[in-house]
Amino acid sequence: MADRSPRPSACPPTRHPDVIHAGRAIAKDGTVVPRWMLVPPLATYALSLVVVALAWATRASLDGAWPGVTVFSLFFPAVLLSAVIGGIGPGIVTLATSGLVVTYYWLSPRGSLMFTQDSLVNLGLFGVSAGSIVLVGHLLRISARRSATTAHILKDFAEELEGRVADAVAEREAALQQLHETMKSEMVSQLTGGIAHDFNNLLTPIIGSLDMLSSRPVTPDRSKRLASGALEAAEKARMLVSRLLAFGRRQMLQPRPVDVVALLHGLSDLIQRSIGPGTRLVISLPPSLPAIRVDPNQLELALLNLTVNARDAMQDGGTLTISAQEEPAESDRSLAPTVRISVIDTGKGMDAVTLRRATEPFFTTKGSGRGTGLGLSMVHGLAGQSGGTLLLSSTPGVGTRAELRFPATDDQLSAEAPSAEIAAPSACNLRILLVDDEPLVRTGLADMLHDAGHEVVEVESAREALSLMEDCAAFDFVLTDHLMPGMNGATLAGKLRDSHPLLPVLLVTGYMGADTEVPAEIATLRKPVRQADLLQAIDRAVAGVGRFRRIDDSA
Ligand SMILES: Nc1ncnc2c1ncn2[C@@H]1O[C@H](COP(=O)(O)OP(=O)(O)O)[C@@H](O)[C@H]1O
Ligand SMILES: [Mg+2]
Repeated sequence: MADRSPRPSACPPTRHPDVIHAGRAIAKDGTVVPRWMLVPPLATYALSLVVVALAWATRASLDGAWPGVTVFSLFFPAVLLSAVIGGIGPGIVTLATSGLVVTYYWLSPRGSLMFTQDSLVNLGLFGVSAGSIVLVGHLLRISARRSATTAHILKDFAEELEGRVADAVAEREAALQQLHETMKSEMVSQLTGGIAHDFNNLLTPIIGSLDMLSSRPVTPDRSKRLASGALEAAEKARMLVSRLLAFGRRQMLQPRPVDVVALLHGLSDLIQRSIGPGTRLVISLPPSLPAIRVDPNQLELALLNLTVNARDAMQDGGTLTISAQEEPAESDRSLAPTVRISVIDTGKGMDAVTLRRATEPFFTTKGSGRGTGLGLSMVHGLAGQSGGTLLLSSTPGVGTRAELRFPATDDQLSAEAPSAEIAAPSACNLRILLVDDEPLVRTGLADMLHDAGHEVVEVESAREALSLMEDCAAFDFVLTDHLMPGMNGATLAGKLRDSHPLLPVLLVTGYMGADTEVPAEIATLRKPVRQADLLQAIDRAVAGVGRFRRIDDSA
């Protein structure tokens, strides 16, 4: 049994075992007795005399009324009462006084204590019967004592037991809480370790290349190779961050109503190519489905992640089935109908531990260099951030089923985003106001813009930008960071939109906090940005002045 000393204050304390329960008391000898047994001995003798007197009065008032009742019988209850309350002593006193009273008043010769043969016989019979009654009373007394003690012990035992159960429950809860905390910190350290490991691997070629480029002159060929090596690693780092943000549900999503049937038809070629010729692909779709509200690029990426996992699990070939169907509201017990997308493989499956941990970031069974452990965590994060769920089920040796469910939406499907097709005139020689509180980022962005022939004025806060604009400084374009101390970029964009409706504004942001919503009409671009993406986004924003919209960037 567990140690009982440190009991959490939430538990009711056990009663002290010496506390005597209702109706019971502790006698002088330390035993537990019924409370009525605590009458002092002298009082019990006095009580004996009182009950004899009462019996006498009753007998006298009934004299001759109940001829069937023997002259002694009314004294029997008095004897019993005294014996039960006082024990053998008071019982015998009652017996003796009753015998004398009866001899004196009711046996001949009346009014005297002369003992005739008859009276002696009667008295003898009374003595034997009353003596037995004294014994019975005494036994009753003992049994009452015993039951008081037993009840007391049982009650204490029950309370003790209750206390122990409460302790055990509290201990279990505390242990569970601790386990939860441990698991949480284990997850955090796994996440931190994973990020550190992957980033160090990516930073090594970046730092190495830049170091060589800056420390000594290199041939143009070599400099190109070094730069492209560094860029490649940086691209991978960008992808890593994007997946981490997806897991943390802090991704900058651009949700819109999506037709899943069309999306899966469009993706089927890519899926077939990614699983290779050895695996059979079955895509089973109804003619139409309700729209769901999700970021289509990210949904495609999630489906590709699931496909790649299925491919990895089916090294020796198999069948990959992708299907989608509508789940009516009742069967799902949710309010809105949902659309279910299933990705089912006939691969090696997962055991219970792998299945439980599969969506943890950096959890992989594929070995270093082959798996990132970020595929399912991204899918899980996207589903969560889009109001949906990811459900995994798997049987080792049989296969795995991944189900994505998203609530259906009544929003109308928007026509294909026109922005990508707009052949925007390449804007150049713009006078651009650049707002970013981070000097390194600001300088980097300014360099890209200078390089493209634009004139750049840099400020480090939204307030500075607003006061410049108030001073009638003329700008063709505003490029602003989102998360900045004081006023954020979205607020700045909103104010500029009111005061300068024709001025195009582009928001560049690193991540979306839960409390940092950006209105859909503000054009946004995800950090980190490459020069080509930045210039293209500026072109689109310039072309789209008057009808602000988000700019697609496919990460
Ligand atoms: N379809 C699948 N069949 C069997 N195991 C899978 C499947 N999908 C995921 N897993 C398991 O879950 C782990 C985590 O998957 P994921 O997050 O995509 O990372 P990665 O693919 O980089 O390992 C995988 O390493 C694998 O053990
Ligand atoms: Mg994967």
